[in-house]
Amino acid sequence: MPPVPAVAVDHVDVAYPNSPAVLQDVHLTVPPGDHVAVIGRSGCGKSTLLHLIGGLLTPTQGSVRVLDDLRDDARLSHCALMPQGDSLLPWFSVRDNVAVPLRNSGVGRREARARATETLAWCGLEHHARRRPDQLSGGMRQRAALARALLAEKPVLLADEPLGALDAITRAEIQDWLHMVLSEPPSDDARRAATTMIMVTHDVDEALLLSHRVILLADGRVRETWPGWFARRGARRREDVLADPEFAAARSGLLRELAGGGR
Ligand SMILES: Nc1ncnc2c1ncn2[C@@H]1O[C@H](COP(=O)(O)OP(=O)(O)O)[C@@H](O)[C@H]1O
Ligand SMILES: [Mg+2]
Repeated sequence: MPPVPAVAVDHVDVAYPNSPAVLQDVHLTVPPGDHVAVIGRSGCGKSTLLHLIGGLLTPTQGSVRVLDDLRDDARLSHCALMPQGDSLLPWFSVRDNVAVPLRNSGVGRREARARATETLAWCGLEHHARRRPDQLSGGMRQRAALARALLAEKPVLLADEPLGALDAITRAEIQDWLHMVLSEPPSDDARRAATTMIMVTHDVDEALLLSHRVILLADGRVRETWPGWFARRGARRREDVLADPEFAAARSGLLRELAGGGR
């Protein structure tokens, strides 16, 4: 038997109350360990798709399974959702923010803090553990938010424009960091947590660099699918990948489709 997909969206429509369908006949199967990048214009339904997978919305047609489970609350419990913005709690220290998902799943305060401290060391934030989020730069906050999502020990990570608020240089640095983290998780916990990822982004390079597959949503439908470069990149430096003529061709193809891509 083929392995159970991590995520299976089967011919789904989603409509908000008193509105026409936002997603129409969306079909997407994500095997365990795959990273899918979702691109598309504002308002085309990207966040809706993540909320649907993560159990915050119920389809009006079709079905959604995460690890073969149809129930909304089961999907919610299988997914770490990183919403738009860093969503760190401003009144908690960085360490306690990172510890939140562990605390929510019943891990005691001392152990949760110890594991959060380890995670912060792994993402280069060990000297900032006791600070509050507003005392960190935007890039550090995003790293902390990603670390928190990865430490949540959920099989599926749903990230909604996780680097959207960052300047181009910081963004490139964190893309490279994330590529490394997803390629070589430092612990079994992170390996489990990092296996399957669905990430919304407006950045075509980011979509290609961090995914196995890029899908373009337009008018609530999956219009196109392209291969991503996550596995293909290997140990190559970013500049070398970006300079690869095949990568450049993939990028311009994506940009062309995006420009002509409906709503
Ligand atoms: N809670 C809601 N109630 C009604 N309409 C919504 C709601 N959330 C989003 N929408 C509408 O659904 C469409 C898709 O939104 P969204 O999924 O947020 O798009 P994207 O993330 O691609 O920008 C938009 O037209 C938006 O206005
Ligand atoms: Mg959105």
